Amino acid sequence: MPATIVVGTQWGDEGKGKFTDLFAKEMSMVVRYQGGHNAGHTLVVDGESFALQLVPSGVLYDHIVPVIGNGVVVDPVVLLAEVDMLTAKGVDCSRLRVSGNAHLILPYHQEIDALTERYLGKNKLGTTKRGIGPSYADKSTRVGIRVQDLLDPKIFREKLEAVLEDKNQVLTRVYNRLPFDVDELAETYLGEVRDRMVPYVTDTVGLVHEALEAGQHVLFEGAQATFLDLDHGTYPFVTSSSPTAGGACTGAGVGPRHIDRVVGIAKAYITRVGAGPFPTELFDEVGDHLVDVGHEYGTNTGRRRRPGWFDAVMMRQAVRVNSLSEIALTKLDVLDQLDEVSVCVAYDVDGERHETLPYHQSDLHRATPICETLPGWKTDLTAMTEPGDLPVEARNYLDFLEDQVRCPISLVGVGPGREQFIHRTAS
Ligand code: GDP
Ligand code: IMO
Ligand code: MG
Repeated sequence: MPATIVVGTQWGDEGKGKFTDLFAKEMSMVVRYQGGHNAGHTLVVDGESFALQLVPSGVLYDHIVPVIGNGVVVDPVVLLAEVDMLTAKGVDCSRLRVSGNAHLILPYHQEIDALTERYLGKNKLGTTKRGIGPSYADKSTRVGIRVQDLLDPKIFREKLEAVLEDKNQVLTRVYNRLPFDVDELAETYLGEVRDRMVPYVTDTVGLVHEALEAGQHVLFEGAQATFLDLDHGTYPFVTSSSPTAGGACTGAGVGPRHIDRVVGIAKAYITRVGAGPFPTELFDEVGDHLVDVGHEYGTNTGRRRRPGWFDAVMMRQAVRVNSLSEIALTKLDVLDQLDEVSVCVAYDVDGERHETLPYHQSDLHRATPICETLPGWKTDLTAMTEPGDLPVEARNYLDFLEDQVRCPISLVGVGPGREQFIHRTAS
């Protein structure tokens, strides 16, 4: 399977990093195609934990070329700090490549992100305040500054001057803040930041196609998830990029005919960080149990993730919009101690049963989940490696989910470690 996409199917933090790292063993290249350092992908290898934000999750293998594609928004200061962190842990980042077409996140993006949130008050989205939305907004309104602009100091300065004319007006007149100084920013970004970025910058589209033409295996690593997608998510409670599988085509520069396999990563339950509708959200002690046992706190922001039951209505939609070929289900072990496990099979909206996602967002806000409850397995799954090891109740749960979402669950995560998974035969 030369080209594979790994995509989040819920509201993020499904364990994309863990499975990307696992698949990377068989790959030559891992390409991030969207998002920025709003992502937090945790890998646990030989007991050591790596929290990645921008660097693709394949970086831990010596044979992988990690690529940051054109669809990503890059804060170069954060990227270089991550490279330093990995280097200090003995990871060689010299093979990293960054698209010259990727857009930069600069300090005014972060400030505007935080200010927009503050002014939205109770309507705030709960963004990561990393400047993601403002950077993608500049890309769309064609005033963004790209990674390649770092290579041409004259152009970088010209673009910065032009954009700060506008940003500084907004910051000083609308938000009553201090303006950004062109000289100061130019000095920082055209100094050490530029010098250290230069070796990584290249034509990543060419690189990806050369790998594919040579028959090498390329993995496209999604950040965020289907329901945080700007088009397909629970707008406006979404991120500003296209995490769905189609985003890999634009965000890395490959056509759909190159894609052979699309693996959707789903948690055995659901979590969401930030605001927005969440039909299966749990506010009781079962929810607290999932947060405690699943360590459901943001990798980078430390925020408590909102917990809920697995939602088959959402998952059916994720199977469709991503053309999933299979599902990797993570964190099954987090349900180990529960007496019963519920799954949302449909929504009730004002007395009407919905088995597919209601197209009107207001309906989603009012939806009550219709759940089916299955017996728990009350067994520690964390050391299991074969499908036959699983207790019958756990196998029934997986069969039930597969039946509900009509897509095979090929892999099951039973712990955070690289080796803690079960390869099921697709049914
Ligand atoms: P991502 O953003 O989709 O890569 O997911 P995160 O890394 O933000 O969050 C997933 C968390 O669950 C991480 O701390 C992983 O180490 C952990 N994890 C991944 N798979 C499993 C699993 O199967 N079981 C358990 N218990 N933890 C897992
Ligand atoms: P990974 O890749 C979970 C959420 C934020 C907020 C919304 C918009 O680790 O799964 P943004 O800063 O992107 O403008 O915030 O999206 N969000 C995530 N939630 N996992 C993520 O990434 C997320 N990236 C953004 O909490 O609700
Ligand atoms: Mg995460």
